[in-house]
Amino acid sequence: MAEENVEVLEATNLEKIPGVGKAIAKKLMDAGYTDIVSIAVESPQTLAEVANIGLETAIKIIGGARKMADIGEFETGDMLLERRQKVGKITTGSKNLDELLGGGFETQGITELYGEFGSGKTQIVHQAAVNVQLPVDSGGLEGHALMIDTENTFRPERIIQMAKSVGLDPQETLKKIHIARAYNSHHQMLLVDKANELARKYPVRLLIVDSLTAHFRAEYVGRGALADRQQKLNKHMHDLQRFADLHNAVVLVTNQVMASPDIFFGDPTRPIGGHIVAHTAMFRIYLKKSKGNYRIARLVDSPHLPDAETTFVITEEGIRDP
Ligand code: GTP
Ligand code: MG
Repeated sequence: MAEENVEVLEATNLEKIPGVGKAIAKKLMDAGYTDIVSIAVESPQTLAEVANIGLETAIKIIGGARKMADIGEFETGDMLLERRQKVGKITTGSKNLDELLGGGFETQGITELYGEFGSGKTQIVHQAAVNVQLPVDSGGLEGHALMIDTENTFRPERIIQMAKSVGLDPQETLKKIHIARAYNSHHQMLLVDKANELARKYPVRLLIVDSLTAHFRAEYVGRGALADRQQKLNKHMHDLQRFADLHNAVVLVTNQVMASPDIFFGDPTRPIGGHIVAHTAMFRIYLKKSKGNYRIARLVDSPHLPDAETTFVITEEGIRDP
């Protein structure tokens, strides 16, 4: 590893921001704001709350950080075009699925995979963690993968199978996948900050959250907790989107569908998180079980691709075409 290139993260970096002394720098670091950009793009309310500082102070600090980080509020069309031209893609392993997505999983955006248990969400993210490491002309980005695992479903043995079948060295492949177990929703959100740190050490091009919603669903129970849950999920989704932008990375999140018997009206297979998750995700793929190892994937509400459906299979080698 190119350890010598690693920028040492110290609170003293933050003290360069006008209005930030030792004490506030420490508060910011403790709250997970380890670099100037992460502060520059934060909202004053959130910064004040999370770092436990006054709102006025937060506004001042963010202003200072924005000047230093050179973050403009507006981008010109040609800048946007330049950013779009840097969009990279990771092959899913299936040509059918790649086509559905317009070429594969895209960087700079969040793709949501939702469906019932066994529909293939975890298998697809395992495959992506392998495929991101492939050379560009083989459908990869020669990058590392980070995985926030909330249900303890990461299986190194499965990675070994998948790596072998695309011609990658299994041990080397495992070394480029960094897994963190999230113990609750709060921890899960903090891990995105850790992911930002890691992405400065390694060429990370993929961040996986499997599952995005399980902890939130378990912890925020009942009608009264809904608003709070949605607010937290909203912040989480925005943190993930920022990760995708900052590192030109693919973000893949999984979501189970609600199939509770108490829902008599409407679609009984709505994904959890509702419109918050729906609006922040760039691509949403609804996965359905079919006969045997066949799966159906449907692209839902994509801004620049038509709604469409395709099939793929889950085999020993991984995600493939039927
Ligand atoms: P939940 O997390 O429970 O919501 O489900 P999920 O959507 O993540 O499902 P997952 O991706 O775990 O899919 C499980 C299915 O993948 C199994 O039912 C198997 O059909 C298939 N599968 C998993 N591992 C293997 C494997 O090693 N070989 C083959 N051929 N199929 C596998
Ligand atoms: Mg799963």
